[in-house]
Amino acid sequence: MTASLTVGLIGAGYMGRAHAIAFHGVGVTFGPQYAVRCLSLADHSADSAKASARALGFEGAAASWQDVVRNPAVELVDICAPNYLHREMALAALAQGKHVYCEKPLATTLVEAREVAHAAQRSGARCFIGFNYICNPLLQFAREMIAAGELGQIVSVRGRYFEDYLSDARSPFTWRCERRLAGAGALADLGSHLINLIHFLLGPIARVSAVLKTTHSERVDPSSGLARTVENEDTAHVLIELESGVRGSLEISRIASGYKCGLAAEIVGTAGSIQFDQERMNELRFYSAGSVSGRRGFTTILAGPEHPDYAAFCPAPGHGLGVNDLKVIEVRNIVRAVRENGVAWPDFAEGVRVQEVMEAIEVSAHSGTWVEVDGGPLS
Ligand SMILES: NC(=O)c1ccc[n+]([C@@H]2O[C@H](COP(=O)([O-])OP(=O)(O)OC[C@H]3O[C@@H](n4cnc5c(N)ncnc54)[C@H](O)[C@@H]3O)[C@@H](O)[C@H]2O)c1
Repeated sequence: MTASLTVGLIGAGYMGRAHAIAFHGVGVTFGPQYAVRCLSLADHSADSAKASARALGFEGAAASWQDVVRNPAVELVDICAPNYLHREMALAALAQGKHVYCEKPLATTLVEAREVAHAAQRSGARCFIGFNYICNPLLQFAREMIAAGELGQIVSVRGRYFEDYLSDARSPFTWRCERRLAGAGALADLGSHLINLIHFLLGPIARVSAVLKTTHSERVDPSSGLARTVENEDTAHVLIELESGVRGSLEISRIASGYKCGLAAEIVGTAGSIQFDQERMNELRFYSAGSVSGRRGFTTILAGPEHPDYAAFCPAPGHGLGVNDLKVIEVRNIVRAVRENGVAWPDFAEGVRVQEVMEAIEVSAHSGTWVEVDGGPLS
């Protein structure tokens, strides 16, 4: 049997922990051929790395992220550090011949994202971006339904990603509010997932018309106690047209009171419609125009072992998966691509495509016009 894939993790915060849970679980869930060996971990300091390596079940702690990247025993470098570090870490890992698994967004600007994707293309390494929501068995199933024509001709799409983590004007300034460290605001943090979801279900977004707004324009910086200008948007409202000609809209907000993980999509077709909301991630609502008269209406499909990847977790329908299970599926896809078939998606080219849509949205908001998504070369 192939030996376990060896991983070096950089960044042991919220996502680092989620990745570690997935690394430990993937072999049990999908079989030992997908097992991962957690070799080395780096965090912002050597002391923090030591504590986190123990807590997250890594064999060793590295003094710095550069030590993880240079470690000859590490095959896959996993980047869970803040956005502004992704570019430098990914380029260094690729230069050492590593495969790379990077959290979203790929970089803080389109230019940097293209630079990283270009390096990945030249290296021949397998590279992945952590758009985990599309791993949901019900979203994989929805994609199959759409591809099989169950909704007929697609007429429109409505997507939203609402969270409320900055809805309180008194919430402090964080790195997510600073352009150099985060890139865009709600658009990069939440919108990137939504754009990828639309790409996954319906194909590429071709043009956009958008408005952006920063509602809470100042927040108190806890390090100084002084008010600081928030440098990126709280909300985005976007009209979209896909390459297929389908039209629709996206709404993105990090100040949407009451919404905790409101990633949702409604897709309307001539023969039926579907609705999905991540806050009810084990349910897919489906309407078939072919239903019997008097019994027409949306029905709720509960996730179960008939849907892709569900049975690996649980033989019983309706019992449900959780968000960390999506990371287990994501990691299985990565190990499979590296060890077996090489098919990796969402890869860094998709990371760039998402960033191109984000850039087009910002340009449109500035110019007040429709803007084409620039699918230019990677260099
Ligand atoms: N896929 C998802 O659903 C999802 C969810 C949340 C965050 N993210 C992404 O994950 C990334 C991390 O976000 P988070 O919420 O885990 O942040 P976090 O602040 O919880 O964790 C970041 C970690 O990086 C470490 N770090 C900072 N500088 C470092 C350095 N120079 N070297 C090594 N480690 C360093 C910090 O010590 C911290 O442990 C971001 O890019 C974010 O967009 C993705």
